[in-house]
Amino acid sequence: MDATFWHQKWQSSQIGFHLPEINPLLTRYWQQVCQSSRAPVFVPLCGKSVDMSYLASLGHNVIGCELSQLAVEQFFQEQQLPFHMAEMTTGLRCYQAESISLYQGDMFILDSDKTAMCSLFYDRAALIAWPEQMRQRYVRKLMEMVPAGARGLLITLDYPQDSLQGPPFAVSDAWLQQHLCDGFEITQLSCDDVLAANPRFVKRQVPWLTESAYLLVRR
Ligand SMILES: C[S@@+](CC[C@H](N)C(=O)[O-])C[C@H]1O[C@@H](n2cnc3c(N)ncnc32)[C@H](O)[C@@H]1O
Repeated sequence: MDATFWHQKWQSSQIGFHLPEINPLLTRYWQQVCQSSRAPVFVPLCGKSVDMSYLASLGHNVIGCELSQLAVEQFFQEQQLPFHMAEMTTGLRCYQAESISLYQGDMFILDSDKTAMCSLFYDRAALIAWPEQMRQRYVRKLMEMVPAGARGLLITLDYPQDSLQGPPFAVSDAWLQQHLCDGFEITQLSCDDVLAANPRFVKRQVPWLTESAYLLVRR
């Protein structure tokens, strides 16, 4: 999954991952994750997710990172938030509006001091956007970006990987336990059968599909 892949997806509006409504797992579990804290929330690979507006409505400052300029500009237009934009020396741009700041560019070159205050984070369709060989690099970067004690909500999908080409890629509970346990305490909050609600998977005759929510706490 290189940058060109994602730029093409945004340019051709092939963004089936984008949900028009707030993610129900976010509304179900956020209180348990944030424990009434109003700390800033880091949202890696944020797309134009409306979940960011929900988090801002709860009183959080939101700091997102997204590769696509189209996605970032669509977010502010659709949310009717006037923004100002600053070029950064590192090759990213920072779009800012009220309590939402989005860094547009490659997350791997975003300095960790930009998110060091984020003792909360939200990963929906970020970890599962990476194929297996790039996923560990993403996990290491996420570990760098959030401070010790940071609490996050992670939403994953799992299915037999050989039955469909990602993204989204399948991430099993076993993979998480193996590759995240050094950096995070992991608590599974739910695991639901979501096959019927995902026509793309049904059409490809994927035999099963589960969606899980996890509470992660940075060690
Ligand atoms: C599957 S989408 C998920 C978007 C969002 N989290 C959501 O739930 O709608 C993955 C997003 O990651 C962005 N992306 C891919 N590689 C990236 C990178 N290296 N740095 C920042 N964003 C990236 C893509 O442009 C895409 O919008």
